[in-house]
Amino acid sequence: MAEETKFERALLNIKQLKKGMKIISYIGFSQKYQSMDLETCTFVRHNFKDARARIIRQEKELDINVEQIAVGDTMKRIYKLPPDLKKLTIVTEKLVPALMHRGFLKFEVKRPISSQAAATKPPLTKKQVKFEKSKTQANKFVQQLKQNVSTHKKASAAVENIMDDARKGKVSYNGVKEYVDNITENASSEAMSAIMSLKESDQTYDHCVDVGVIFQTSYLKIIESKGRKSIFENEAKTLLGAFLHDFGKSKVPKDILDSTVRFERDSQEMQMMQSHPVFAVELLAGMGMSEDIINMAHYHHVKQDTTINSCYPKGVNYDEVIYETRLISIIDVYQALVGKRKYKKSWNPPAAMRYLDALAGVEFDMDVWDDFLQVMGLYPKGSLVELNDSSAAFVMNISEDDPERPQVVIAKNAAGDILTHHTLLDLQEEKDIEIVKDLDVMEVFGKDAMEVFSKINIS
Ligand SMILES: [Fe+2]
Ligand SMILES: [Fe+2]
Repeated sequence: MAEETKFERALLNIKQLKKGMKIISYIGFSQKYQSMDLETCTFVRHNFKDARARIIRQEKELDINVEQIAVGDTMKRIYKLPPDLKKLTIVTEKLVPALMHRGFLKFEVKRPISSQAAATKPPLTKKQVKFEKSKTQANKFVQQLKQNVSTHKKASAAVENIMDDARKGKVSYNGVKEYVDNITENASSEAMSAIMSLKESDQTYDHCVDVGVIFQTSYLKIIESKGRKSIFENEAKTLLGAFLHDFGKSKVPKDILDSTVRFERDSQEMQMMQSHPVFAVELLAGMGMSEDIINMAHYHHVKQDTTINSCYPKGVNYDEVIYETRLISIIDVYQALVGKRKYKKSWNPPAAMRYLDALAGVEFDMDVWDDFLQVMGLYPKGSLVELNDSSAAFVMNISEDDPERPQVVIAKNAAGDILTHHTLLDLQEEKDIEIVKDLDVMEVFGKDAMEVFSKINIS
């Protein structure tokens, strides 16, 4: 049902009259009404028949019928216009110039409130426009994440398949091509990158997909902000290259690969596991991958300080490790920390970011880390944090100006209720709100984590 139009009264001058308004009284007149001549008198009597007039006659104010006005009277008001006088009460485009011509200058009108409100509503400030955009972005992020869960699962199964095939000697990336293209063209790798903090994933195949989508998202953002050129042929190749960073693991026996026990440092299993970057070189070359993609698979475990134990293969000059490989090496560790496994407690994304921050300059290239931190934020999207009112909030957008104060949405209030109506809070503006600690999504929401996140709808 259409909303009923409400009216309000207003005093307006001739220039403020708008179509759709209704004139109740004529209250301002040009000079010729100050001492009316015969022509003006006749005109008013004729056109405002049956209305009332307030006039000054011999310094006295009189309230009379329009028919009673006389030459020499000064017109103060014409009102109580009869309903059939529509041509002088309903404002049309034609009426305004006619009234102006006749010397009617001021009016009491009834005007629709809604149109008035719209007409006088001040335009949004730049800040408000930006905030509205943030809300739309956050809602879109939630929707995309929800839609991409099954794509993530299928992509992960496809990675497993091509690695199983490679184990049997059939080396090809055809099985993942469909997903690489699909994610690049239709899905959002950014939304997919938040999936891993909301549900369990495995250490090999989901890992490849997670590293892939985080790499594609962050790399494209970094090169855009720096005005640099991508080394990849296209966006799909960026994702494919990252998907394949652990492809060498297809030469590692499955029982070693899937083992959840930590192998001894110099054990055969550990040596086998640590050979995956070297195994990848030949496999990827055989698939026609570029030198750059091979560099990523070959050197993603090389640390800036090459003497570190966890650095392999040994004896690599860090100068040979390209920017893209340095970036994926950071993402590789980030995923390993944050990815939720059945057998270990995972790290909360902000805690992982702080940990990596401490390693930057030793294990990782400081400049590459700074680039990554800039696009991920200290509180990556999808992180759950506790606010100083004891509520639990999801990070929806990072802040470029202050990485400590992102935009968040309260998902669970201090009383423990899961909220169904959501408001976006910009911590840069809400100075009283503080993030007091990181929360583990699984501990707070258990298996419902994904559902709670998926239901976020900011109004
Ligand atoms: Fe690896
Ligand atoms: Fe990896």
